[in-house]
Amino acid sequence: MCGIVGYIGENKALPVLINGLTKLEYRGYDSAGIAVYNDGELFVKKCKGRLSNLKEIIGGDLEDTVIGIGHTRWATHGEPSVENAHPHTNVSSSIAVIHNGIFENYMAVKDWLINDMNISFKSETDTEVIAHLIDYYYDGDLLDAVNKTVEKMRGSYALAVICKQEPDKIIAVRKDSPLVVGIGENENFLASDIPALLKYTRNVYLIENNETVVLTKDSIVIYDELGHKMDREVYHVTWDEESAEKDGFEHFTLKEIYEQPKAIYDTINRRLDDNGNITIEGVNLTSEDLKKFNKVYIVACGTAYHAGLVGRYAIEKFANISVEVDIASEFRYREPFIDENTLFIAVSQSGETLDTLQSLREAKRRGARILSIVNVVGSSVARESDDVFYTWAGPEIGVASTKAYTTQLIAFYLLALKFGELNGHLDRSRYNELLDEMKKIPDKIDEILVDVSNVQQLASEQFNNESIFFMGRGLDVDSAFEASLKLKEISYINSFAIAAGELKHGTIALIENGTFVVSLATQEKLLEKMGSNIKEVKARGACVLAVTRFGNTEIEKVADSVWYIPEIIDEFAPVLSIISLQLFAYYVSLARGNDVDKPRNLAKSVTVE
Ligand code: AGP
Repeated sequence: MCGIVGYIGENKALPVLINGLTKLEYRGYDSAGIAVYNDGELFVKKCKGRLSNLKEIIGGDLEDTVIGIGHTRWATHGEPSVENAHPHTNVSSSIAVIHNGIFENYMAVKDWLINDMNISFKSETDTEVIAHLIDYYYDGDLLDAVNKTVEKMRGSYALAVICKQEPDKIIAVRKDSPLVVGIGENENFLASDIPALLKYTRNVYLIENNETVVLTKDSIVIYDELGHKMDREVYHVTWDEESAEKDGFEHFTLKEIYEQPKAIYDTINRRLDDNGNITIEGVNLTSEDLKKFNKVYIVACGTAYHAGLVGRYAIEKFANISVEVDIASEFRYREPFIDENTLFIAVSQSGETLDTLQSLREAKRRGARILSIVNVVGSSVARESDDVFYTWAGPEIGVASTKAYTTQLIAFYLLALKFGELNGHLDRSRYNELLDEMKKIPDKIDEILVDVSNVQQLASEQFNNESIFFMGRGLDVDSAFEASLKLKEISYINSFAIAAGELKHGTIALIENGTFVVSLATQEKLLEKMGSNIKEVKARGACVLAVTRFGNTEIEKVADSVWYIPEIIDEFAPVLSIISLQLFAYYVSLARGNDVDKPRNLAKSVTVE
């Protein structure tokens, strides 16, 4: 959730901290702060709101400082305010801490600090407790004090700590929250995510769970939880800073919508060998493995969960294996029927979503084989999986997931075809036919993107709505869920999606004169039924947009407006139908004056439960 960054070296720290935080602001943006060491003292500057506010209050005397840590916050404990912004310090302000995650048992420790140690707290955060606890254990050895502190902590955290008595080092620890170290020359870096480091280095160490790292200007030492020094391979980042820039687009979200043809092309074509066979580097399932699985369990959150719904359909249809799909935060708290005959698929853009990660661990404990569909290379979900399908969508910065979603759909299609081939359910000609259809998808998305004036026009007419409904049948319900989530998260319009057949069982009571209903109708065998559902809402005064397949002009007789997607087989229609609806959400959000890339209350990567 929160973004953390650190710098130690022979250059100025402030520009590195600010640049890093700018790249991490998508992780959280309700307050921001830095702590730096200068002339024998620690200085902390923090503010409520966006990073731009922080930029206004730093500089001056601190410009020459060469060590510091910075934080951009997504509030968990305590409202967004200057007091609750990180960094937090001990009473004498000799120790400064930034934290991403949740210190679950902080209340017990806080009570003890207040009652027995007489500490008075300046904030409502769990993080301030950490600063006081490090102080309590500090006896001239910061590493030792940090180790003793984390021994007392339950929960998830990535921490970075500096101390005025030891101004030559930054200490950082990771448990269930991402942490990467950037390797420089006479300087080293720390961040919760790679984009924050790309301006300075492409060589990084990925810090593992329960590891502590000590950074100085010219050394990086990683320790495991028993205090043993760990060797770590340098991970070389292949994408560059530009791919994490807006590239002339007004927002990352828009840029990422337009990047979908290329992202999908890459996801497909890197998986085809010269003979047209699907070979997925990182996924080593054999036909023997496939025969063993009597069930596939797909678990994810939010948009990734919606991709899983489509994935279920594809795997059941193309590979004839029974599939269950669950929301990760629910999955964790039931007693799922999972064993060594289950293939568990975790889906996650960030690879750091805590509920997804914990579900994966639960499935692993029960003996399942773990396959993940992940975008961020080297992320926790990827590292803890037996097999990994990387979506290669490139960095997704907009909080609303767009290209990650469509590449997840492609990943599922490729896996389903591969499984069907391996277990013999798909014959070669059908397999080739489906693959040929898939290869046409990038061009078909380009066709949609070439003229979006109809989308802009409708967004300009409907942006003031208080509520918007989405409905569909079959695969179209899954797309409706995703389209509705996209709209609500960036426009703040109260939208929801429903299976069209369910309407008459209650929800139709909400339809009144002028209610705007988006009706997805791309599935050949369900077109007539959808036509009837549209008539039902029209009869109650609804204004209907239909998103349908090319050639289904009949629908113009019932819907108020119609958007056509290029011809495609039913199974792949979700990749096309979502594109205009992503754009619709974007233009509605824009018309309402919202911050499209950083919608309120959200964060890109949800590393708390
Ligand atoms: C998508 O638009 C959302 N911001 C959100 O639902 C997201 O898909 C969800 O939090 C899961 O994230 P992940 O893919 O990084 O695991």
